Amino acid sequence: MIALEPITRENWRAALEVAVQPERLQWVASREPVALMILAKSYVRMDSQVWHPLLIVSDDENVGVVAVGTGGDVAWVHHFLIDERHQGRGHGRSAMRAIGEWLRDEFPDVTRVGLNVVPENTAAFALYRSLGFERVGTTLDRQWITMTWLDDLTGSLIGYDERPRDASRRKSSTNRSCGGEVSVCALFASVSLPRGAQSDTSHASSWADGRAATNRRRAGRMPGHPLEHR
Ligand SMILES: CC(C)(COP(=O)(O)OP(=O)(O)OC[C@H]1O[C@@H](n2cnc3c(N)ncnc32)[C@H](O)[C@@H]1OP(=O)(O)O)[C@@H](O)C(=O)NCCC(=O)NCCS
Repeated sequence: MIALEPITRENWRAALEVAVQPERLQWVASREPVALMILAKSYVRMDSQVWHPLLIVSDDENVGVVAVGTGGDVAWVHHFLIDERHQGRGHGRSAMRAIGEWLRDEFPDVTRVGLNVVPENTAAFALYRSLGFERVGTTLDRQWITMTWLDDLTGSLIGYDERPRDASRRKSSTNRSCGGEVSVCALFASVSLPRGAQSDTSHASSWADGRAATNRRRAGRMPGHPLEHR
């Protein structure tokens, strides 16, 4: 059973003990301990978000750390780490679900969840894909910006609305320039990437394509996004 506990003056030293393999550190933070980065960024409120530093606990054992940034309808998962001794046992998946449930309970405005992942981190990306995350852009330092709906993350969605089956719209939705494509371009425009971030039109379109009808109900803007995540 996974629990998320705020990092406080009682447990911060324990949080610093959460460790990552040296070769994987670059995927999650620019330096160790990862919890120290989390606490520093929480203090300065990086990217103008409210950072929530969290310890991931399983059966009274500290198995990971993560920070969640809030401040609008998109919440951002930062520095997600399962300790090297506890990886590959399902804790990562359970923790992501727990983050989703926590957001649903505590932040009713949140509809989507975003995170950055480096393309080489295939294990993490496989996990995120299975939770509904789709690539929607690329940061200046070549990380993929990915997003999912909170409903997908928590598994609480019953079903999507039927998307209009308009042939011309389907054809133009694959047009990378978005010329003449109103629905997808308008949808993508609603996902405002940060200044300097590159939109990845093909992936954004496919993400948009599958979510078009749902988006009409839940359209919103993405708040300022970290350009340098690590
Ligand atoms: C990525 C990470 C958070 C996943 O947590 P985890 O507890 O190891 O993952 P889980 O055991 O819950 O596995 C979930 C999914 O991840 C993928 N995965 C995990 N380990 C994998 C591996 N060695 N190779 C390929 N895929 C892997 C699989 O898709 C797996 O799903 P499955 O169990 O249905 O096959 C963890 O490995 C980690 O902290 N890595 C180092 C830091 C990092 O990369 N953080 C992410 C930054 S974006």
